[in-house]
Parts: sequence; C-alpha cells; structure tokens
Amino acid sequence: MTEDTRPLAGRELLLVVGGGIAAYKSAVLVRELQRLGAGVQTVLTAAGARFVTPVTFAGLTGRATRTDLWDPSHPGELHIDLTSRADALVVAPATADLLARASLGLADDLATTCLLAWQGPLVLAPAMHPRMWHQPATQEHLARLRARGATVCGPTEGPLASGEVGMGRMSEPEELAKAVCAALSAPRDLQGRRVLVTAGPTHEPMDPVRFVGNRSSGRMGFAVAERARDRGATVTLVTGPVSLPDPQGVRTVRVRTARELFDATVPEAPHHDIVVMAAAVADYRPADIAPEKIKKTQGELVLRLVKNPDVLAELGARRGDQPLPVLVGFAVESTDLVTYAREKLARKRCDLVVANLAEHGFEGADNLVTLVRKDSEEALPRLPKTAVADKILDAARELLAARHGT
Ligand code: CTP
Repeated sequence: MTEDTRPLAGRELLLVVGGGIAAYKSAVLVRELQRLGAGVQTVLTAAGARFVTPVTFAGLTGRATRTDLWDPSHPGELHIDLTSRADALVVAPATADLLARASLGLADDLATTCLLAWQGPLVLAPAMHPRMWHQPATQEHLARLRARGATVCGPTEGPLASGEVGMGRMSEPEELAKAVCAALSAPRDLQGRRVLVTAGPTHEPMDPVRFVGNRSSGRMGFAVAERARDRGATVTLVTGPVSLPDPQGVRTVRVRTARELFDATVPEAPHHDIVVMAAAVADYRPADIAPEKIKKTQGELVLRLVKNPDVLAELGARRGDQPLPVLVGFAVESTDLVTYAREKLARKRCDLVVANLAEHGFEGADNLVTLVRKDSEEALPRLPKTAVADKILDAARELLAARHGT
C-alpha cells in the first residue's frame, strides 16, 4: 500500500459556515479540503442556512450537517464532541457578527459554542461589505482574535454582491485551503510576538522615469513574513518595489526609496520583538533628481551618488543596550563570507546575520546561507526560501527566549 502524501491526509476539519453570500464558495472549499485529504464536518449557522442548505454540505461530506445546539438526535454535548474530534476549525465565511461573537466569547448557538470550546488552530475567512469590514469594531475584534493566534485569511478586494467594488470578498477556496495547511503545519511558537520584516530592493530615482536599483525579488523577506505569521506572530512587512502580492494576514507597507524604508521602519521597530532586515537597501542614491527626463547627449553622463541612511545600523544604535528587538541583518558577499558577516554583525550591532554568497540567492526559489552569530555560525544546506525563513525564525526565537529568560 502506498502512503497517502496529500497535505491534509488523515486530518479532521470542523467547518463553520456563517451567513453571507460567500457561503456558496464554502461548498467548493469543502471539495478542495477533501481533495487535499481532509475529512470535513460542517456546522451551519441559522443565517448560513438562509444562503445554502444543510443538504448541500451533507451531500458533499457524506455527514449530517450540524445546525442545532439542542439536536435531540445527539445524546452528548454536541459542541464538545465536534471540537474534540477536529484538528483545525475553519470559519468561512466569517461574518462581522461571528467575528464579534468569537472575540467576545459569546456562545449562544452551535457555531459560537464550538468557537468558545475550541483550543487548536483557527482559520478565519472574513467576508462582508467593505463598510462593515472597515469599522473599528470589526478591526478591533479581528486584532484580538489574531493576537490569540487565529489565522486570518482575506478578505480580498474585488466586485461584491452589492455591485460595488471593495475590500470584503471571501478569499478563494484554494487560498483558504493553503492557509489551513499552513496553520496545521506550523508550530505556534511566535504566538503573541510582533515581528517586523523588510523586503525587496529600493529604487532611487534619478529623473521621473529612471532609478538606480538592484535585483532583489523580495522572496526571502516575504517568506520570513509569511512563516512568522503562520507561527502565530503579528507581522508588519515593509517592502520596496516587488511584483509579489501582499501576503494574507500581514500588515504590508509599500515603500520605494531607502529613505521611505527608513521612515517606515525605524519608528516601528521598538514596538516589535524581532526585526528582520531582508531588504536590499541601496547604499547610495543620485544626489539630484532631475525634474524632467534626462535627455541623451553626445558625451558621457556622470551620475553623482550620495550615501543613504543605514537602517539596520540605525536600529542597532537606537536599541543600544536594550535587549529588544532582536535584530537580524542580511549580508551578500563575494568572498570571505563569514569574516565579513561577523564584521557587519559587530558594526551594525545586530544579533544575527544571514550571509550568502552573491552567486546564490536573489531570484531563485532556494537559498544557500550561513547563520552568523557573535559566538557561533551554522552553514545551512541549500533549502527552499520558506525553510530558510523557518531557520532564521528559529534562531531569532532562541535569542528572544534567552533575553526574556523564557
Ligand atoms: N542595510 C540597511 N540600510 C542600508 C544598507 C543596508 O539597513 N542603507 C541592511 C540590509 O537590509 C542588510 C544589511 O544592512 O540587512 C547588510 O547590507 P549591506 O549592504 O551588505 O551592508 P553594508 O554595510 O553596506 O556592507 P557592504 O560594504 O558589504 O556593502
């Protein structure tokens, strides 16, 4: 017999379907979760049952859809039995009302009693009208649920049931299924921690259409941000110009130049436990930005460059002797990798330098790095960037634990 290698093989999921038009997409989500190997038990709220019927999900799952806390056909405590059997709880669509009730711990129907009895990985797929999404009440409830460890996937921007376009569409089933896989695979060891990550290149303009930049794709920093999120952290990502979409569940700030990256990062850093400077910040920028496009002439063009602020060095200097945040820098070198990395570690007063040779890294999906600390170094094998991100976070978490004495 061959082993079942599907990512959710043998996993049991409890899917709560709330009352929103996106409930029709939850039927497709069931199929996707099953395709990945999971067994799915559905709970439909009273409002949810107005949009789709229990029969829809019973037909898809081969199990009775549960709707009633007082179901006479179930002899025990239904909410306790359902939550005891599941490996993860998924709420899709998570309406504004369900989020509020989950945040407050209200429990007056089957869905909310399940939520209150739940202790494992929780994936929320919010869906609502943008006006409800943007309400401080909704955002406060979500922030509270996130801080308690929930994975929030979506919503996304796009056409809505009302005919308007805005933020509020439920994430697509494939995205949600990925979030469920990640929530089940990651340790929750950064729960309650705040992580700030910078990523991508910076573009330093020389005229309205040209800039000085570098080849950083942003993938390494995005991988760190996504894994920190999967491991339970609240994550801020400050990124230069890259072609990657904002990661789900990560507050993403887009910047262009080194000075913008400095302004977005330096005041934020003291509010975080770990700062990972994966951005390839341009060391220099054109001294002057021509107001009009520079026209070519017969002769040479000489571009004068001036120094940019060094964000990581500034963070190291400002932190001084304080233990936090743990500071992680990157170093790309062409020779003497560890010697230069260790010199950078001391000069920029950071705790860990992720060093790689210029011929590795940048655009690929893999990376070959050495983790350099004050008193140790660890050469990692070639790994996917996601795995490298986990190694970096393992090391940062160790440093954090040593400082907290936990
Ligand atoms: N960095 C930064 N601000 C800069 C330049 C770099 O914060 N203006 C950060 C990067 O994000 C990275 C680390 O510093 O984490 C290493 O950058 P690098 O350019 O290699 O360091 P330098 O000190 O400029 O060394 P080199 O002389 O090798 O360029």
